[in-house]
Amino acid sequence: MDRLRIIGGQTLSGSVRISGAKNAALPLMAASLLTDQTLILRNVPKVADIETMAQLLAELGLDVSDHWENRSGPNMEGSSSVCLALSGSGLESVTASYELVRKMRASVLVLGPLLARLGYACVSMPGGCAIGPRPVDLHVAGLRQLGATILLKDGYIEASAPKGLRGAVIQLPVASVGATENLMMAASLADGDTIISNAACEPEVGDLAECLVKMGASISGVGTQRLEISGVSTLRGTDYTVVPDRIESGTYAIVAGITGGTLDLLGARIEHMQSVADSLTKVGVELTKITDGVRAARVSREICPVTIETEPYPGFPTDMQAQLMALTTLARGVSTVRERIFENRFMHVNELARLGADISIKGNTATVVGVSALNGAPVMATDLRASVSLLVAGLAAQGETVINRVYHLDRGYESIVEKLVACGAIVERLPE
Ligand code: UD1
Repeated sequence: MDRLRIIGGQTLSGSVRISGAKNAALPLMAASLLTDQTLILRNVPKVADIETMAQLLAELGLDVSDHWENRSGPNMEGSSSVCLALSGSGLESVTASYELVRKMRASVLVLGPLLARLGYACVSMPGGCAIGPRPVDLHVAGLRQLGATILLKDGYIEASAPKGLRGAVIQLPVASVGATENLMMAASLADGDTIISNAACEPEVGDLAECLVKMGASISGVGTQRLEISGVSTLRGTDYTVVPDRIESGTYAIVAGITGGTLDLLGARIEHMQSVADSLTKVGVELTKITDGVRAARVSREICPVTIETEPYPGFPTDMQAQLMALTTLARGVSTVRERIFENRFMHVNELARLGADISIKGNTATVVGVSALNGAPVMATDLRASVSLLVAGLAAQGETVINRVYHLDRGYESIVEKLVACGAIVERLPE
């Protein structure tokens, strides 16, 4: 397994081209199952999770092809991204196997589209994962409300609706991103109207809705907690560009903050980063809109402590919690980080402690007592955002940090070593 070696202490400056959002691209890829025509997706990030989803769709019988293409927009010369063409005309299988679903929980997003298009789906249960049990009960309950018969058997979700799905009023008890996406896709091809209330409002959900509308779906209330979907009988192919990754953008903003530098995040959308920007302002890192993205700059001499709570969008994202915590380890004072979305999402804490951080946990709250310096050490990545928080901390630590199991990082960050090195970081990948 590859490792990363970091020599900390450099001030990073320059620009970083923000990739398309992995968490938007994954449901968009699943949406290709809803049509027998070709869905073209542009600005897809080159990360391992996308490859897993492509493999899963190919196993289901889709024709999946990709190529690099130049990105358009100011300051994007010389930069390329992946363009995917997904053609559902050969869709033949309805089974998403354990081998692929266990690798990536988002695989469960094929459940709604398969069921809506073919009337049957058999998808392995994702099981537990490093950040808590993460059940799929809301996906299952919502599809049942849309008229599906669902059996949980031998580790698989077997769903059938031979006469098609029918519209329903669905009240989600928790604003789940994945459940909203699965149900929105299924309802797009259901007979009649569906209302999803307490829907997730994340920009990635909005991106999926916009693409579905381009494919011929009828959806209103996009970006709000109440989605109204009028089912249509077929959807068509389209050409869609994935939204820039707000979590990657926020991560590099924190890199600028912890190293005391300034980074221009090209392509980033400040309107998707408001809660992160508000918290970073308190820390002493200013985010400002520039013509081609967002500038992140440390404006205070010291890092200031902050209190955050993770919440559904537009609140502070759970996917930024570990990185913010890494930043506060060097604050002058005591910070409080409360995780309200996922239990168990504190695996980075013990590893940050290996670098000298002073963090204690009580229930879902971490108290971070800022220290004057971190010291490099070998650490282990445990999940995607935990690993990037170790990288963030390693960039500011004195001496050498080696991160083991970097495949977690490769699941969601495109060319992270190259992007950091271009801004002055000393980071290298040590092959196995
Ligand atoms: C998505 C993101 C992930 C992010 C999370 C929260 C993708 C591919 N992943 O994950 O990066 O951290 O949103 O912003 O987009 N829940 C249930 N039952 C369910 C589904 C969810 O109880 O059937 C709970 C979860 O355990 C969690 C909460 O709802 O406590 C939110 O989870 P959810 O929004 O569904 O996360 P994902 O869609 O898995």
